[in-house]
This record gives sequence, structure tokens and C-alpha cells, in this order.
Amino acid sequence: MRSATNIVASVLASIVSYYLLRTVCRFLLRVSSSLPNGPSNADWLFGNQKEIWSGSTGLGEPNPLDNWHEIYGRTFTAGGFFGTQRIYSKDIKAIQHIMRNDQLYLKPPVMRNILKSILGEGTSIIVAEREEHKIQRKVMNPAFGPNEIRELTSTFFEKSIEMRDIWNSRITAEGFGKIDSVYWLSKVTVDIIGLTGFNYHFNALNDPDQTNELNRAFTTMFRSSGGWTSPWMPLLAALPQTVQQFIRAFVSVLGYDTAIKSSAECIQRQCRELMMESKAFLAATGEKDNGWSTKNLLSLILKSNMSSNTPMSDVDAIAQIPTFLIAGHDTTSLATNWALLELALHQDIQSKLGEEILSVRTAMPNVDELNALPYLDAFVRETMRLHSPITTLNRVATQDDIIPLTYAFTDRNGIVHNELPVRKGQLIHLTLHQVHTDKSLWGPHADEFRPDRWLNVPNGVQAIPGVWSNLLTFWGGTHGCMGWRFSVTEMKVFLFVLLRSFHFELGVPKDELTVLKMASIWQRPSLKSAPMKTELPLIIRPFKV
Ligand code: HEM
Repeated sequence: MRSATNIVASVLASIVSYYLLRTVCRFLLRVSSSLPNGPSNADWLFGNQKEIWSGSTGLGEPNPLDNWHEIYGRTFTAGGFFGTQRIYSKDIKAIQHIMRNDQLYLKPPVMRNILKSILGEGTSIIVAEREEHKIQRKVMNPAFGPNEIRELTSTFFEKSIEMRDIWNSRITAEGFGKIDSVYWLSKVTVDIIGLTGFNYHFNALNDPDQTNELNRAFTTMFRSSGGWTSPWMPLLAALPQTVQQFIRAFVSVLGYDTAIKSSAECIQRQCRELMMESKAFLAATGEKDNGWSTKNLLSLILKSNMSSNTPMSDVDAIAQIPTFLIAGHDTTSLATNWALLELALHQDIQSKLGEEILSVRTAMPNVDELNALPYLDAFVRETMRLHSPITTLNRVATQDDIIPLTYAFTDRNGIVHNELPVRKGQLIHLTLHQVHTDKSLWGPHADEFRPDRWLNVPNGVQAIPGVWSNLLTFWGGTHGCMGWRFSVTEMKVFLFVLLRSFHFELGVPKDELTVLKMASIWQRPSLKSAPMKTELPLIIRPFKV
């Protein structure tokens, strides 16, 4: 017993000494380095990450990143874990450079560790890099071409109409109903990605008791905001695997959200079963069967997995399922929540959009008819600009480099630099939301919701690189979002169906709303009284023409 205690004590002592030594070295390096200026380190363990990871701000109020950009300029340094330094930049040239050099700037190991803990051991497209990433992308990209999305639009409509009918049934004799759009949009988007990507019926819209285990696991995972807002999560993930396992074995609390862990295990198990069942089905029937389209995401993955020519391994194929289920539902659902919130806040915009949508003769337009609606298009772009669901993107430099800049920065010693020298291992956060609200690019009202700005886009924004709409919402380059077309069309369909039936108002006073930061990279509308619950109460009234 005593020897076990001694072993534990000496392992702990070694870990502590290692990190203390590393912190001292990093402190000395920081003092002598030419890193951009920035806020002082709030504490030795978390640096400034607690401020960045946790907390919420009122609607439209600046968050710490806004404030630091305001004080220190487009590029600044803030403290990371264990005395490390992280660079934050919204400089367009720096962003272009990092986007183009994606063989050099990769997803940081902490990010990959967190993703893998959710998606399983396999390497899915969101974790893969370089050659492996290129091969996977080639396999799955055909599922997201313009013609494929055209075909999926009928499913977007079917599910939106199903949701609309449920909302209709909530309208009381008093002539209005109250709904939580966060709940419903998360259900409809999970139903859609399940069906369109994997022929899988979550039936989430019609499963209030959550009898479907996968549906239950997704709800727990995305409603467990506690874990996503705790800076302990990335801190643990920043440690070497063995140290993480050691700490988890001896310290069970530490703010680590066990709900996320158990739902991740359930998701991985269910996805493994889905893959194996589908593989057996495909092997038995061949792809001529009705349920299988040649360019359906699951059949593309399975075909690659079963091919004799550089096949995708079983674990990698399985990891793609939760990747797309997660990437393909929470983001669009979040963006649509922000869209409904803006409609409720701006009745004039709601009327204008409603008029345009009601002027369409058919209740089920095709993609071209939807895309021909200029105000709907401008409204969706403005939502994706001001409320980009992903607010920052993280990369690590895999070798020393010099990053070009549009704007010079001042280092901690007061010296001005026109370029940003980075060392191998340097973490860089690209602050996408701050690019989207930069007044020098978008004009003095950059932080206001004004869809009309898209009818006359300022010239400066042409320099913003991005796969869609001079925005960084869907990133760009070889790692640009695969689902941007899917998501934009899906959101247009939701708005089209909902605005033909309802008028929206806020279900709570505006100052009761707050913006909850999650995992430092995405933000949700929520209520001040219960920020972790993430709900958005809206009042719906049937639309009378
Ligand atoms: C509003 C909705 C969405 C937003 C804001 C969004 C945003 C993004 C961003 C910023 C990235 C780059 C992440 C990085 O490299 O660190 C990304 C990648 C990705 N997204 Fe989306 N996404 C959305 C919807 C979707 C949908 C609907 C799907 C699939 C159906 C999808 C699938 C993917 C995949 C597979 C990647 C990885 C691409 C790669 O690394 O090659 N996304 N997304």
C-alpha cells in the first residue's frame, strides 16, 4: 500500500516539476520574444483562457476578444495553459497565409484530442491532415455537389413542414403559441442529416421521450453546456495522453463533464452498429436497391471502405458518421436560431422578408427559385456574418515561419513589426467573428444586423478569403466546410416554410437574453436566468395574409 502511495506521489511530483520547469522556460522566452503585445497573464495555469472559454455577454455587448482587439490591434498575444502564449489575429493577410498553407498550419493537438474523444479512435475528415485528408475529401466531396443538394431539398422541405405542423399544434385558443426554437431546430436538423447522409431515421421531431438512444445521446451532448464552457476540458486535453488518463483515474471531478463522455461513447457505439449493418446490407443487396443513391454520403464511405484500392479503414469509416452528424446539425441549427432571434428583434426586416417569401407562387420552390429571392439571400448572408456559428479557428505552426500582415503590430518591448515571425509549435487563433464585425471592412454599422448591406457590398470585403460570400463562416481552402451548400439551402428552406406560416416575437424581454460562449469557438443565444440550458423562447402567431 505504502509503495503504491509512493509511486503516485513521485508521479505527481514529476508532473508538477515538469510543468513548473516548462512554465519558467516559457516565461523567460516570452519576456525576450517579439510576440505581439496583449493582456497580462491572468493566472499561471489557465493564462487568459478562463476569460475566453467561460462566461456569457449580453446581446450585442463586446466579449474579451473584442475588447483586446480594440486595445491591442488586429494581432495580439494572450496567455494559454501552463504559461504558453497564444496569438490571436483578425489580420486578413495573416488569415489568407494560414488558409493557403494548410500543410504547415494544422489543427492543434488539443483540438484533435477533444474531437477524437467525441468521434472515436478513427481519423475522420475533421481530424485528418495532409495526404490522408486529401484522399478522404475526394471520397466524400461528391455527396455535396450542387445537383446532390438539389435532390436533398425535398427532404429539407418535408422535415421543415413536419416541424411547422408541430408548432401549429402548439397555438392555443388565445391565438399564439410559445416554442423553444433551440430545442426544435436541433431536432429537425438532426433528422435531416440522419436521413440525407445516412438513411437513418432519428425521428427526433416526434420523439419527445427520446426513445431513440442516439437522439438521447446527441441531446445530452449538446445540452451539456457545463462541460463545453469549462476551461478544464481543454486544459486536460492539453496534457499528454498518459497524464490525462492518470488524472482521470485519480480525480473524478475537476469540472469534467461525464455526461459528454458517456454520450460520446453511446454515439460511437451506435455509429459502429449503423456502419456494420449498412455494410452487410450493401454487400447483400448491392447499391441498386432503392434506398441507396450512388452519391449518398454513407454509400460513398462504404464503397471506399469496401474497395480493394486504398480502402478507408473500418475505424476511419465509422468516425465519419458522428463527424457529419455533429458538423451537419448543430451549426445550421444554431445559425437558424440566430436568424429567428433577429426576425423577432427587427419586425421591419421580418415584414420585408415575409412579403418576399409570400410572393412566391409555389409552397415548395426548387433551389434555383429559392436562390432567386434577393432579400432571403441577403438575410441569410447577414445572419452568417454577424452570427457565424463558429467564431474562432485554431491552428498550430508545424515549423518556424514568417506570416505576412496587412497591419503592423507592436511587441511587448514596444518595437513595431510589419511581419509576424512564429516558432514551430505556436498556437494561433483566427478571430473570424471579429473579421466579420471589423468597421474598417464593413463600415461604421458593422456590429448591427442590416441585411441590406448585401445589396451593396463594400469593396474592402473582397479581400476576405472564404468558400462562400466573402465570409469566413465556412472557412476556405482545402479544409473549407464541405457542407456550406447543404447548410445555406437548408436554412433558406426553414425560413421559407416558417415565414409562410408564422409571425415571430420574443418570448422573454430582450435584456433577459445572453450570448453563451461554448468551447471558445461557438456561441449560443441563451437566457440570463439559466444560461447553461440554452433555450430561446419565441412567441409564434399564425400568419394571416
Ligand atoms: C452554418 C453551418 C455550418 C458552419 C458555420 C460550418 C463551418 C465550418 C468551418 C468553419 C469549418 C472549418 C473547420 C476547421 O478547419 O477547423 C468546417 C468544416 C467542415 N464542415 Fe462545416 N459548417 C456548417 C455546416 C456543415 C454541414 C451542414 C456539414 C455537413 C453536412 C458540414 C461538414 C463539414 C466538414 C466535413 C468539415 C471538415 C472539412 C475538412 O476539413 O476538409 N458543415 N465547417
